[in-house]
Amino acid sequence: MLTTAARMGQLGTESAFEVLARAKALEAEGRSIINLGIGQPDFATPAHIVEAGRKALADGHHGYTPANGILPLREAVVADLHRRHGVTVPVDQVLVVPGGKVTMFFSIMMLGEPGAEIIYPNPGFPIYESVIRFSGATPVPMPLYEAKGFSFNADEVLAKITPRTRLLILNSPANPTGGAVPRSELDTLAAGLERHPHVAILSDEIYGEMVYDGNEHVSLLTYPELKDRVILLDGWSKTYAMTGWRMGYGVWPKALFAGAERLAINCHSCVNAATQYAGIAALTGPREPSLSMVAAFAERRRYIVQALNRLPGFRCATPGGAFYVFPNIAGTGLDSRSLETRLLNEAGVATISGTSFGAMGDGYLRFSYAASLGALQEAVERLGRWLMQQNTRAR
Ligand SMILES: Cc1ncc(COP(=O)(O)O)c(C=O)c1O
Repeated sequence: MLTTAARMGQLGTESAFEVLARAKALEAEGRSIINLGIGQPDFATPAHIVEAGRKALADGHHGYTPANGILPLREAVVADLHRRHGVTVPVDQVLVVPGGKVTMFFSIMMLGEPGAEIIYPNPGFPIYESVIRFSGATPVPMPLYEAKGFSFNADEVLAKITPRTRLLILNSPANPTGGAVPRSELDTLAAGLERHPHVAILSDEIYGEMVYDGNEHVSLLTYPELKDRVILLDGWSKTYAMTGWRMGYGVWPKALFAGAERLAINCHSCVNAATQYAGIAALTGPREPSLSMVAAFAERRRYIVQALNRLPGFRCATPGGAFYVFPNIAGTGLDSRSLETRLLNEAGVATISGTSFGAMGDGYLRFSYAASLGALQEAVERLGRWLMQQNTRAR
């Protein structure tokens, strides 16, 4: 009989991967499934980036690199953050890791323990709550409101801070809602946080380059008063369509960097060397491929918001960023989980129940629009037909 640590019972998961597995199983049975469940760009990594990775392998970059990442890559990160946010971060506070998720895992494990509290967005990326529980800390949900474009209310967040609060997790633009928090709300939050110097902030800005219709992405790095306690989570997965290369980075406060680097040494040693060279090409090469991908997302977003709003029982807010819509489906009379299951099994459309993102996601469904316009149109037609059948049966 094998016995695992009790904390293993606390670990949650990301149901996008489970839905993907169910969708693949149905496809293997010959069913046609449109997968709007998984959160990754449907574009290939731009060719100049792939070439840089291929060349790095051919040039013999096969060994370990420094645990924090090769210097030219970290310098490219510093230059990119300066270009995008007008800030200069010290190159020795950049930690390159295998994916955006790793900065999340490390920061929560470094600050979370029994007795500590961590505030996290709800509905939000499910791994936040999962790792908070795994660390032994108490998860304190921070509600996001449909009526506020899925932003939080800064005063409400500040009121949740106690002497036990160690970490506040922010994510804008957000998964699963696509919400982009307005500058005014962040200004209020930043000003209020000055009264709580014991709270670190993990700012997950992995969708920071995907904002639409004049929405701006405001980085937490641009608040000098928070500079000593913001952990920035960012990376290549979404902006450069590099989810499978597994690379991201954190910019850590000076006081936390050594601990994070030590976790990296204990855990993965370094990111695969060739991927790091590809990452330099991404940050220093032509921006056109990323820009045209985001332009395609903008067009699909316009389409899907309008189309979902025409479906009976659906009410879809226009998201400010990322590549998700999070329609309110309460009007269908079905709960989110049943709708997810039935749309997959009966309509052949994979989506994710809002409850996979926390209790506040009840009554919502997440659609990723990182799929071709044709696929989105077909998905909406299938949904329309299916909803019509339900209404006819109900009469
Ligand atoms: C909000 C958010 N943060 C982080 C990540 C993780 O990104 P990566 O694939 O680079 O680990 C994701 C991926 O879906 C995400 O949605």
